Amino acid sequence: MAVDGFRIVPGYLDRAAQSAMREALQDVFARAPLYTPRMPNTGRPMSVRMSNCGPLGWVTDERGYRYQATHPETGEPWPAMPQALLDAWRALAGYDGAPESCLINFYGPDAKMGLHQDRDEQDFDAPVVSLSLGDTCLFRIGGTKRSDPTRSVRLASGDAVVLGGAARLAFHGVDRIMPGTSTLLPEGGRINLTVRRVTRP
Ligand code: SIN
Ligand code: MN
Repeated sequence: MAVDGFRIVPGYLDRAAQSAMREALQDVFARAPLYTPRMPNTGRPMSVRMSNCGPLGWVTDERGYRYQATHPETGEPWPAMPQALLDAWRALAGYDGAPESCLINFYGPDAKMGLHQDRDEQDFDAPVVSLSLGDTCLFRIGGTKRSDPTRSVRLASGDAVVLGGAARLAFHGVDRIMPGTSTLLPEGGRINLTVRRVTRP
């Protein structure tokens, strides 16, 4: 049902690697704090909080969706991507160019993300590689048309997802998280890391 090129790698990060990633992210958040993004036009706040690392960060506000080199609230450049994210890209992307952006989404107990495509990048030949940490979520994946049938899968802490090939432009979203399903994050919740190539190499 889901399109070709949608791949889940359960337990890609083991518990030790998840803990190391959580610690690396503490350093990222110290320099690039999570903030509440807003929807284009309406300015409505999203339920997730966001940050980024890498040369470019994906942001959204009243002016629209875009990539930019600086944090929208601090004006500072995004921190470098932790080595473990570069390693995940190398292992999973099957793409020669380096990743340029890692969007970090934090989901509290009531956060979700509506069905959407990732299409603000110039190069759809590069896949999207995503890693989940913390509470399990119900992830929804469909086809390349919004009206295509969808199915939902559980993503647990340490799982990786690759959206490549036809699935690069598949509609996807997060219906809900399942609070209390992981002990990785002391404060609970879920972190999703989405690693992407933005420009053509
Ligand atoms: C996203 O599409 O930006 C996030 C997906 C996820 O949280 O798994
Ligand atoms: Mn997405």
